[in-house]
Amino acid sequence: MAQLWGGRFTKETDKLVYNFNASISFDQKFFRQDVEGSMAHVKMLAKQEILTEDEKNQILSGLEGILSDVENGTLEITDEYEDIHSFVEANLIDRIGDAGKKLHTGRSRNDQVALDMKLYTRYEVVEINSLLKELLESILHIMEENIETYMPGFTHLQKAQPITLAHHMGAYFEMFKRDRQRLDDIYARMNYCPLGSGALAGTTYPLDRDYTAQLLDFSGPTLNSMDAVADRDYVIELLSALSTIMMHLSRFSEEIIIWNCNEYHFVEIDDAYSTGSSIMPQKKNPDIAELVRGKTGRVYGALVSILTTMKGLPLAYNKDMQEDKELTFDAIDTVKGCVALFTGMLNTLKFNKEVMKTSAMKGFTNATDAADYLVNHGVPFRDAHGIIGKLVLYCIEKDKAIDELSLEELKAISPVFEQELFEAVSLETCVNKRTTIGAPGPDAMREVLRIQKEYLSLK
Ligand code: ARG
Repeated sequence: MAQLWGGRFTKETDKLVYNFNASISFDQKFFRQDVEGSMAHVKMLAKQEILTEDEKNQILSGLEGILSDVENGTLEITDEYEDIHSFVEANLIDRIGDAGKKLHTGRSRNDQVALDMKLYTRYEVVEINSLLKELLESILHIMEENIETYMPGFTHLQKAQPITLAHHMGAYFEMFKRDRQRLDDIYARMNYCPLGSGALAGTTYPLDRDYTAQLLDFSGPTLNSMDAVADRDYVIELLSALSTIMMHLSRFSEEIIIWNCNEYHFVEIDDAYSTGSSIMPQKKNPDIAELVRGKTGRVYGALVSILTTMKGLPLAYNKDMQEDKELTFDAIDTVKGCVALFTGMLNTLKFNKEVMKTSAMKGFTNATDAADYLVNHGVPFRDAHGIIGKLVLYCIEKDKAIDELSLEELKAISPVFEQELFEAVSLETCVNKRTTIGAPGPDAMREVLRIQKEYLSLK
């Protein structure tokens, strides 16, 4: 049991208590950030003449040694240390002796852990953002190739109006684009350095907090030392953004699962992204999409968990806050895995364009356009709605689409119908006429693609 305290204790910590309290099994995840934070702290202490140049150099080379030894596997992080901070400090003292004992001058583990967690999550925000960019690139590629791939659009999972595959994919482009913007916002808001806040009340040493913040690429130091050690808003915001990403991925997964099922057959998931059944030889299951959908619950769980942990905490630091780590790390790893796998699945997904088109032609997705035809020929919309309702009923009886009827049949329902109706309610017309920005018409879609491409080239 190696710990950084003990002077005022007369008994050894109970072994169970020690294990319950220890965090090394998970906070070793930010080992690198812990060392980098210490390096910046030491450089600042020397600049302020709190440490000598010689002490600084000894500490820096000791820390560099620990970093490279752990990363090349010659030094192992073991649970004989309480946490990653103790591991680094104890190893430093072993290596360089007395100078190592000065590392923690003007610092508490409270501001240290706040820094480490921020550095770690800040790094991951950028990683997740770039994975989302790859996903957007895949979506954009599918959009570009499918401006005229017709499919039914649904409401209530009932065929509604015809759209294109580009349009459907474009909806997800918007969602993941907003997800990236949320991550950018979080980055900007969290990017203030807590180091120098001490346990809660700052320190009496003449620290240069601006300098530390600058060394670690922060926008500046945090402005309230109590808030700095007690704040986990950025973790909550991040988990909220991650939950939203998972919600989007889950909806997309659900659609792919539906589209992939035997009845729809709009898509075929590549063999590499499907799995078989141990008993039913014919099966090819969409397990990856299902797992992405399933793992969404786990990321939501992390958000609810940290919100609940934080809700009753008095200022400033409380040990409850140690609970922010495992669930955040798990949520980050889950989201990264899901985004990457989903992108791979999308890149290899085969779209059955003819099936989609045939499906769009069935199910009266052009009924609104047929009503609009009547309106354009002087029939008030409410009457047109009623006429087309009757027409649809007739079609159902005859098992035909609107444009499969003869002009005589149409005229028997309304004399306003003429030959041009067939053109007006064709699948192509229904889509192509929808030209306002945001609609599926190819011209509007080309304009949206231009905007999205420009966005991807800039961000
Ligand atoms: N392992 C602790 C955490 O994750 C580090 C901070 C410990 N501070 C303290 N006062 N015990 O929150």
